[in-house]
Amino acid sequence: MKCFYMFKKDNTKTKQEKPLEIISKVKPRRVISSPRSVIEMYKEKEHNLRVFSFEELRYATRNFNRLLKIGEGGFGSVYKGCIRLDDGVADPSVVAVKALKKNGLQGHKQWLAEVQFLGIVEHPNLVKLLGYCSEDGERGIRRLLVYEYMPNKSLEDHIFSRALPTLPWKRRLHIMLGAAQGLAYLHNELDVQVIYRDFKSSNVLLDVEFMPKLSDFGLAREGPTGDKSHVSTEPVGTYGYAAPEYIQTGRLATHCDVWSFGVVLYEILTGRRVLERHRSRNEQKLLDWVKQFPSDSKRFGMIIDPRIRNHYSISAARKMAKLADSCMIKNPKDRPTMDEVVESLKQIVEESEETNLIRIFLSTTTVQMKIKEIMSKNSMGIGNWPRPVYSPLFHSGMVSCLGENLLVKNSVI
Ligand SMILES: Nc1ncnc2c1ncn2[C@@H]1O[C@H](COP(=O)(O)OP(=O)(O)OP(=O)(O)O)[C@@H](O)[C@H]1O
Ligand SMILES: [Mg+2]
Repeated sequence: MKCFYMFKKDNTKTKQEKPLEIISKVKPRRVISSPRSVIEMYKEKEHNLRVFSFEELRYATRNFNRLLKIGEGGFGSVYKGCIRLDDGVADPSVVAVKALKKNGLQGHKQWLAEVQFLGIVEHPNLVKLLGYCSEDGERGIRRLLVYEYMPNKSLEDHIFSRALPTLPWKRRLHIMLGAAQGLAYLHNELDVQVIYRDFKSSNVLLDVEFMPKLSDFGLAREGPTGDKSHVSTEPVGTYGYAAPEYIQTGRLATHCDVWSFGVVLYEILTGRRVLERHRSRNEQKLLDWVKQFPSDSKRFGMIIDPRIRNHYSISAARKMAKLADSCMIKNPKDRPTMDEVVESLKQIVEESEETNLIRIFLSTTTVQMKIKEIMSKNSMGIGNWPRPVYSPLFHSGMVSCLGENLLVKNSVI
């Protein structure tokens, strides 16, 4: 889904629900005594970014070879490349090179925002910008960005593409927790508050271990300072993900990112995109459709992604939906902060893992009881049990006797 630069008026009705329970463990909002601007902070850190020449990047991507193209977004095309980052000594590194489309001032503004914001942030859930290229020549302006390469594509690819294996439930939870931590860092941990403004599944990239990293800071903005509640901007973002009050008024605050996070929570629960035009009328808009299946209703299970049915925890899923609803409360001030979202997700992850353990324990215990029952029916002692080399019943019984079910805790369900 592409970005846009001006929203049309949108009268989408939004959910009005009570906020999720307030979680007391959250850190108090950091009070910034002497806020600095992003530009000031960038000046201190800009030496961390490497400046590449256009020729270097052309060579790294084999002249922007079509076979090395890994994606295309509103900003331009993304290529996989190979480049030596440390002056000639270390092995070449695999990188992602994003080349700006020739779309003038707007593109340059986004490129600059990306360099400045990614130049000052440092967090395991934010993509690392390695450097950039900025050359103005006879052939026009050349603006490129060089990132660490993320081999597992984006969250969008994994939830919606049938070409990739199903993303398991536990992995979905961990991805959303990591993404929430990335947003919470932007909102609360820097000397300046950063509003990301473009949270969506295609901007959550996945590393080799499926750790999520937010990418695309072209639309990021400094948040309000002092006692201001918002900054006023021309609304930009992606249809379907942007908070309604922002579309209508242009008032931007961290609550807008929280709304978009809620939208993606429903995407990972249902495996559906926020807008799917090929569906029947009442199922096209995800947020309208899920309203028919409230989280505390019996029908709730019907919205769960069919690809993970029977492989997820219903009670954790209900809590996720409740959290998503609270992120999309109409009044922005009633939405949780990203710190609160992180805490809720941690609890959901914990509970989901406990449920998984209990399920595994119960299933192995049932198997053991079954074995005993069969043995007593046949009046066979354990000594004369015919032990085939691979008896699944016997094997699972052994696993639980040895307490190996604890190991299963770490496996992905
Ligand atoms: N660092 C990276 N490593 C690996 N692949 C990447 C990287 N950055 C981007 N990509 C790939 O390129 C695709 C396009 O990214 P891009 O951010 O330009 O567009 P988008 O997110 O799909 O759309 P939009 O422009 O609306 O944000 C991503 O979906 C991803 O598959
Ligand atoms: Mg993107």
